[in-house]
Amino acid sequence: MCGIVGYTGKDVAKDILVTGLKRLEYRGYDSAGVALERAAADGSVTIDVIRRVGKVAGLESELAHIDANATCGIGHTRWATHGRPSVANAHPHTSCDGKIAIVHNGIIENFAELREALTARGHVFTSDTDTEVFAHLIEEAYEGRPADPATGAPATPGTHDLMAAVREACTQVVGAYGLAAVCADEPGVIAVARKDSPIVIGRGENGSYVASDVIALIDATRDVVVLEDGQFAKLTPEGIFYTDAEGKAIEPAVTHIDWDIDMAEKGGYPDFMLKEICEQPRVVRDTLVGRMTGGELDIDELGLTMEELNLIDRVYVIACGTSYHAGLIAKNLIEAWARIPCEVEAASEFRYRNPIITPSTLVVAVSQSGETADTLAAIRDARIKGAKVFGITNVVGSPVARESDGVIYTKANKEIAVASTKSFIGQVVSLTLLALLLAQVKGKLTTGQVRMLFRELGDTAGQIQWILDTQTDAIHEAALACKDAHSALFVGRGMGAAIAHEGALKLKEISYLHAEAYAAGEMKHGPIALIDPGFPVIAVATRSPVYDKTVSNLKECEARGAKIIVVATEGDEEIKQIADHVIYIPEVRDAFSPITATVPLQLLAREVALMRGCDVDQPRNLAKSVTVE
Ligand code: M6R
Repeated sequence: MCGIVGYTGKDVAKDILVTGLKRLEYRGYDSAGVALERAAADGSVTIDVIRRVGKVAGLESELAHIDANATCGIGHTRWATHGRPSVANAHPHTSCDGKIAIVHNGIIENFAELREALTARGHVFTSDTDTEVFAHLIEEAYEGRPADPATGAPATPGTHDLMAAVREACTQVVGAYGLAAVCADEPGVIAVARKDSPIVIGRGENGSYVASDVIALIDATRDVVVLEDGQFAKLTPEGIFYTDAEGKAIEPAVTHIDWDIDMAEKGGYPDFMLKEICEQPRVVRDTLVGRMTGGELDIDELGLTMEELNLIDRVYVIACGTSYHAGLIAKNLIEAWARIPCEVEAASEFRYRNPIITPSTLVVAVSQSGETADTLAAIRDARIKGAKVFGITNVVGSPVARESDGVIYTKANKEIAVASTKSFIGQVVSLTLLALLLAQVKGKLTTGQVRMLFRELGDTAGQIQWILDTQTDAIHEAALACKDAHSALFVGRGMGAAIAHEGALKLKEISYLHAEAYAAGEMKHGPIALIDPGFPVIAVATRSPVYDKTVSNLKECEARGAKIIVVATEGDEEIKQIADHVIYIPEVRDAFSPITATVPLQLLAREVALMRGCDVDQPRNLAKSVTVE
């Protein structure tokens, strides 16, 4: 998704902007640009806008040839929504007179009508974006608006104050925005606004910084202000001034960031995806820290009393993509242990249905980024309908966390690779805790059983480590068997089916090899028609109550010449009779098998992607955080 950086101070802005934009690359983007102030000998200032399609490195080389010693500027990485990736559509966008430049994250829902009205008043648009209306609205507020004979609206005087003009423009915009603006008539000032799109601001030794993600300003400061909706900030070289929508001064809270920049770097691994896969034992341990106190399960940030929990008679898990797959696992656990009916729904569907919701319904919203637009909309809808909403997210203070009644943070730390791996494991562990709690409150599991399961849950950290330490050769061989395929099927039953869905998503999103997942019992109802000699079938067939059934389904594939790769339980020699390749995981209770059996599938996807020459950290067309519908 799009990223914003801005700097005003004593240092050369272009270098700071490029460094910040590079830090934001992991979010996914298709073009990048900066706006820099240029001072003439007579003291007048103009704004230079430099934009490029493609990587920030391209913009950097262009800037290297430009003599720009500006100490104030804004930059942006764009992920196309309105209008294709092009120089004209890249940010920053400018006012007609070129004096105002802006960068924007989010969507302006009423942009079509605003654009029509602005055009009628003589504004000339140079892009297809929704964002550009902001530049013209700020221009009108700054310079003043002529009378409009068509509507009878009288002329309005200009504010000649960038902050006031930005506040005025925001009153006309419906939608989401994180916005930074500069104006040639107010050198050194960056005006910032926020609604439903993240903005963080910080003060470094040599100036003031703004970004859409803390990672872009962590080199300069660790004490940041996370701007709230409806708050505004004026950045100058000397300091930062915060106001509400009326322009009244406010003092927002400062958050100290205690994670190190190294945690966001590759840490010696060839790519972020591998680094993040290898961090999963730590994620399991960290997510469980403090969850069993005095022999009792402790999720005190739930926001619900034990009485309220006891009344819950229906659970919906709403999420997208990988987080949705974590929900499939939660359904199995919540129904098996707590005996509460649980449905899992793609948030994009849930928000447009009329699901049955009562005050005793619990909606669990799962989102790594905590800012997925569909999941947020579903949360809002569920709350309006009276449900209690519980969030599971990886991002502290994210919209999902803020808009839920309670939240569990997944302790995965920053996930950079676009494909979710460690955050998935954090989600599954957190959902498992929730299922245990519901079961305990409902009296379906005794305290003793909960303690035993909690201990076993913790053991999965070591089991993941065993897979990482011992199975890489087997995974490499299996990847060689898949890399030239046109398509692959992932199958499993019970928990294995849920894991298969995540395995297929991982493979297709980073290797561009078409992959589908099926409950193995469904094969003969259609998908088996796909199988011809050499077709890869990747199965999760760990020891479980449905092991024999899964093996029978695999025999049907074997009979048709499929190349069979199996994730099996250590010590299962029998499986070698039908499997071409076996990847082992340690013996584990079926309920916890997703935490371990998913890991070889993540590694398999990565190996296949690398063999096919793909960028595993930044797959094409995908963004790390999907803040548009
Ligand atoms: O941030 P979220 O968990 O809400 O994101 C949901 C999906 O966009 C995300 O899981 C996506 O499917 C990833 N590319 C999966 O690797």
